[in-house]
Amino acid sequence: MEFLFLCLLFSSLGFRRLTEANSTYSPRMIFKCEETAVKRIPLPGQNAHVRILPNGQLDVVKGQTLYSYNFQHPQMNPVESKVSWKKCFDRNQQACNYNITVVHETQDVNKVFVCGNNGKETLCCEMNLSDTSPICNPTKKTEDIERSLSGLTLKEGEPSAFVESADGADLYMTFSGSQEHVGIRKFGKDPVRPHDSKEQHYVGLMLSRRSNDSLQDKVYAFYKEKNRDSGLQSDMWLPFVTQVCMADTGGPKNKMQSSWTSQTNAKLFCGDADSRQHFSELVDVATVHANQWQDTRVYALFRNEWGMSAVCVYTIRDIDNIFTTSPFKGTQKDRPRTCVTDSTKISLDTLNIIADTSEMEQWVKPVSKSGPLLFNRHKYTHIYADSTQHKGNDNYMVLFLSLNNGGIHKVLQTENHTFVIAEYHPFTQQTHILSIILHPSSRKLYVNSRDEIVQLDVANCAKYGDSCEDCILARDPYCGWNGTHCTPDTQDTLQNVATGNHTICEAQPKKAFRHSSHTHANNNMDSITLPSQSKYFLQCPLSSHHAQYTWRHSGNPESPISCTVKDEECLLLIHNMLPEQVGTYECKSEELGYERVVAQYSLQLKSRAAGRLSSPLVWVCLMAALIKSLTC
Ligand SMILES: *[C@@H]1O[C@H](CO)[C@@H](O)[C@H](O)[C@H]1NC(C)=O
Ligand SMILES: *[C@@H]1O[C@H](CO)[C@@H](O)[C@H](O)[C@H]1NC(C)=O
Ligand SMILES: *[C@@H]1O[C@H](CO)[C@@H](O)[C@H](O)[C@H]1NC(C)=O
Ligand SMILES: *[C@@H]1O[C@H](CO)[C@@H](O)[C@H](O)[C@H]1NC(C)=O
Ligand SMILES: *[C@@H]1O[C@H](CO)[C@@H](O)[C@H](O)[C@H]1NC(C)=O
Ligand SMILES: *[C@@H]1O[C@H](CO)[C@@H](O)[C@H](O)[C@H]1NC(C)=O
Ligand SMILES: *[C@@H]1O[C@H](CO)[C@@H](O)[C@H](O)[C@H]1NC(C)=O
Repeated sequence: MEFLFLCLLFSSLGFRRLTEANSTYSPRMIFKCEETAVKRIPLPGQNAHVRILPNGQLDVVKGQTLYSYNFQHPQMNPVESKVSWKKCFDRNQQACNYNITVVHETQDVNKVFVCGNNGKETLCCEMNLSDTSPICNPTKKTEDIERSLSGLTLKEGEPSAFVESADGADLYMTFSGSQEHVGIRKFGKDPVRPHDSKEQHYVGLMLSRRSNDSLQDKVYAFYKEKNRDSGLQSDMWLPFVTQVCMADTGGPKNKMQSSWTSQTNAKLFCGDADSRQHFSELVDVATVHANQWQDTRVYALFRNEWGMSAVCVYTIRDIDNIFTTSPFKGTQKDRPRTCVTDSTKISLDTLNIIADTSEMEQWVKPVSKSGPLLFNRHKYTHIYADSTQHKGNDNYMVLFLSLNNGGIHKVLQTENHTFVIAEYHPFTQQTHILSIILHPSSRKLYVNSRDEIVQLDVANCAKYGDSCEDCILARDPYCGWNGTHCTPDTQDTLQNVATGNHTICEAQPKKAFRHSSHTHANNNMDSITLPSQSKYFLQCPLSSHHAQYTWRHSGNPESPISCTVKDEECLLLIHNMLPEQVGTYECKSEELGYERVVAQYSLQLKSRAAGRLSSPLVWVCLMAALIKSLTC
């Protein structure tokens, strides 16, 4: 009796009715850890830098060592190279412990730019990764950067960019926190620093090259700033974009020397006027570069104080438009808005105005004045955008969003719709995801936590099902129907990313075995015999969470029975097995007009003479079978 009570309690707490789910921004498919095709590699300790080369080689930098993995042969140990600093050789120092804080690609494929810190000073140099024992050699370029760093510690994890030119190289890096001089810094021949002393936390930095007019090349950075207005109605954080000219070398000796003369900033708006919701805490950004600088897009992930997440998208055109046309906040004064060849020659009068004005009055609005692409109750932590799947005229993007429990959402964004294709659980337990990067040509997503890096196949198309309709309804740009299978091959395959309208399948030849039964594939009817007055669950596996699932009983075919959803099952509870319950049961799914029989059972009543089965025991056993763990 106690067991029975326990089970009933369980069922009333853990179950929900499917009809309550609002599928607008919820994932259509959920792939548990064991259903997700992954390869995993343990990471050598914490705080690793991860980068991926075009050939799929993965480099992880940790402390003083560089590890190169080849995921073609993941069972092989990584190639480990301890970084030898040329300076240490020269000084003949044994204990020369510089931890690597910055790694960037250079124009030379094999070479990387590296900076390391020993707690006192920072060294920067270039290293040939093809060497078996690479030595980090200072060059003229890296010496300028190193000299300009004098005494500063580069913090790991801050956004940065390495820019090479004919006569040198510059390192742009943000400094977050509440100390003085937070903001973008330029290191190199002509170092420049910010003059802000506010609390700012940077989430992204990008270069915007103006191909026909390189004097106007800009660096943009994205950050959240602590709101100084601490009123009840005000937000804790404010989201900003800031810009500087790459040509800026700071003011003359007597005013703003080595400080930005070109820096301006503007607030970002992300919200929905209709529901009067807005999002003010900027969490992460992802940039999608376009051929025309104006069309480059920034996908920004926000949160609000009510635990909602949202994604808004901005174009550099719109950002640039605010910086060139908006009045400055709180002043009638204006200042030059184009980058100048020599910022040390700016007049004192102009510099005085520059010192007073930096924030634009107008906010940067999302592209086409749109609201958020997506908002829901999930707590997302990182965003990554892939635009490489463009096919024909379709205008769409795939976004990967990491969840605070270690999951990943794969999201399709088309001109008019946002659609959460799938949720993946690549880790065996809850974890904090530190970074996500896609290797586009192999369609492998690399996700790293503190102690593991996993390679996730984001084109695991066979998982969507074995019919054309299942493949089309998935709306996965990495998959298509080739006539017999849902495959990762998207050349000459059938797909309808824009709407998921599966009627395009009607022209397809049906599979032979489908003709041989009136229902769809693999629906072997299970026969179940139950003792009188016993209890039972009939199970029907959910695949699409956007489909409606209903049960029908042959004794009463006109009244469908809605189901109770638990984990990945749509359950039908048989409370009391009586002669009326005998018959066949069919679980059907319906999604955008596509119907399919998912499960069929035939229930029979056991004759009394065959003995009694304790009903509480049946419940307990079934509950045990249904409680699935997340671990693989
Ligand atoms: C689901 O949520 C969206 C966005 O909040 C809303 O527009 C829609 O009406 C909701 N649908 C249902 C069935 O509640
Ligand atoms: C270098 O990294 C190791 C391991 O993370 C850490 O214990 C050590 O304190 C670091 N040294 C410096 C100088 O930052
Ligand atoms: C890097 O090292 C490899 C192998 O030692 C060598 O073939 C290559 O020329 C080097 N590249 C540069 C830019 O020095
Ligand atoms: C650069 O191209 C833009 C349009 O693409 C044009 O408006 C601008 O005048 C050009 N600038 C120069 C210096 O040619
Ligand atoms: C998106 O919406 C616009 C305006 O409502 C419409 O003209 C366009 O055809 C739609 N695009 C798609 C792919 O449905
Ligand atoms: C369709 O894809 C499957 C699996 O990817 C493959 O085995 C099959 O040969 C393909 N069929 C055609 C007609 O290309
Ligand atoms: C799917 O396409 C067919 C044929 O083009 C059309 O008749 C039907 O209305 C579409 N269905 C949906 C749900 O858009």
